[in-house]
Amino acid sequence: MKDLYEKEINAIKRANRFRQRKIYSEEMYDFASNDYLSLANNKKLLKKTYKNLKKFKSHSPKSSLLVGGYHPIHKKFEDMLCKNNNFEKAIVVGSGFLANIALIESLVRKSDLLLLDEEYHASGIMASLLVKNKLTFKHNNAKDLEEKLKNNSYNRAIVCIEGVYSMSGDLANKEIFNIANKENTILVIDEAHSVGVIGDNLLGILDYYNIKRRENIIKMGTLGKAISSYGAYILASSHIVSYLENKAKSIIYTTAPSLFDIELARLSMKYIKKNKEKIKKQIIIKQSLVKEKLNISKQALIFPVPTNDNNHAIKVQNTLLEKSILVGAIRTPTVDKAIVRLIGRGKIEKFNEALDLLKEEFNA
Ligand SMILES: Cc1ncc(COP(=O)(O)O)c(C=O)c1O
Repeated sequence: MKDLYEKEINAIKRANRFRQRKIYSEEMYDFASNDYLSLANNKKLLKKTYKNLKKFKSHSPKSSLLVGGYHPIHKKFEDMLCKNNNFEKAIVVGSGFLANIALIESLVRKSDLLLLDEEYHASGIMASLLVKNKLTFKHNNAKDLEEKLKNNSYNRAIVCIEGVYSMSGDLANKEIFNIANKENTILVIDEAHSVGVIGDNLLGILDYYNIKRRENIIKMGTLGKAISSYGAYILASSHIVSYLENKAKSIIYTTAPSLFDIELARLSMKYIKKNKEKIKKQIIIKQSLVKEKLNISKQALIFPVPTNDNNHAIKVQNTLLEKSILVGAIRTPTVDKAIVRLIGRGKIEKFNEALDLLKEEFNA
């Protein structure tokens, strides 16, 4: 008998889009992962998390947040998030994917309009399938957003943007914040790639632009990237968080976030706060090295290197793999045109070596 999805898999292979999980050696120099500050290797954070968790009778949430799963570890983390980010209320969520589904599915009611940046994360695009009235606007294009807001009628408009875009590494356009404010839309900001990387206090795009809390701003952050844990959170007004607790299915009908991961995230954030000046210096060094060697200027730690096509991206990735260096080969349809996605993590000397190899590859 033929495999059930053989035809589809063959089509993916023909388009050079076939993916497979791989376990890379721990000795590999990793410039592909989103652990921007390399905290995933910090054994002090691991030990402290374990020690703190052991103080409690249970180490697992056991049920959803709304049943009995809400734990002092969740509350302590949420309180810290509110204090650091100056928001009224926070709620922990299982993952960034679930947080985007929670926000989009519950906030956009029948007579409302959802407007997504065309480069918004796949989780938001998927959530938008659950919504009746939706549009995308041109990437980071405030004018296109404004026109779409003006030319459509709606009760509430909900605009979704990312602080730092996950593939292009672009920062959200400041003008979009002004338009959202002027047009009184709800603005959801996915800060997955900006927290820990940009802003005076490394708190993300709101911190970077020094935008103060407003009733219509909702911030979503993930814990699996610079925070080196797993999970997510939403920061908003008390009223919106209460609404999410009552309406968002991916918050209500799922087990509460792992206590270990949340405590680890709290300690990682404390670490970042304490070491922010040192971290910022390292980030600036890496950005200037990329500018010098590849002529790519980015304000965060995602550096997309343009390639000719999917094949080329894979070829460059394989060449660097032979030297024990891992970079991302991001292919269509994830991006419009295949890129090598270089992440400015790890030791500066090794990062510099990876840059030299990439330069050689692209000049060859
Ligand atoms: C911009 C963005 N939002 C959301 C997510 C999903 O977050 P999580 O990995 O916590 O599910 C990701 C990537 O994973 C992302 O890049």
